[in-house]
Amino acid sequence: MEQKNIFLIGFMGAGKSTVALQLRQELHMELREMDQMIVEQQGMSINEIFERFGEEHFRGLETELIKQLGNSAPAVISCGGGAVMRQENVAYMKDSGRIVLLTAEPETIYQRVKNGKDRPILNGNMNVEFIRQLMDKRRGRYQEVADITVVTDGRSVEDICREIRQRIAE
Ligand code: S3P
Repeated sequence: MEQKNIFLIGFMGAGKSTVALQLRQELHMELREMDQMIVEQQGMSINEIFERFGEEHFRGLETELIKQLGNSAPAVISCGGGAVMRQENVAYMKDSGRIVLLTAEPETIYQRVKNGKDRPILNGNMNVEFIRQLMDKRRGRYQEVADITVVTDGRSVEDICREIRQRIAE
């Protein structure tokens, strides 16, 4: 099978990073963690980028990175939760790979992210209601751009990866 990028997308806490780690091992592919690459390239945390330069600037950094990734060796790419909100980004992703959407209920997301401090959008908004509202705003977009959608609630990472691999091979 021709190897293409696999872009894992979905809400914060949907399991993109965890699934990406496992999937790269199973598929023997490179792993790219978008947030981590931006932190390394900029030499500051995501919180600091948002505080000093604002969200739009961060979104621009995401776009630059996605362009770079499209021209690199095929990889499993764990995308930031907002990366597909820009159409330009989605176009680059579609050109170089497949988009796999991971979903989870707001309650599941909350349990996974509640102790984190490194997501500026959730800092000060760490509750199920906020998560539900933002998820409602983004759901249509996630669904419209995804090639494959996989539910993660109550499932092991191995089980999720099995489904992703099967559906990619179909
Ligand atoms: C964001 C998600 C985060 C990170 C930034 C903004 C979002 O990534 O890119 O805090 O807008 O959903 P994760 O989805 O990996 O937490």
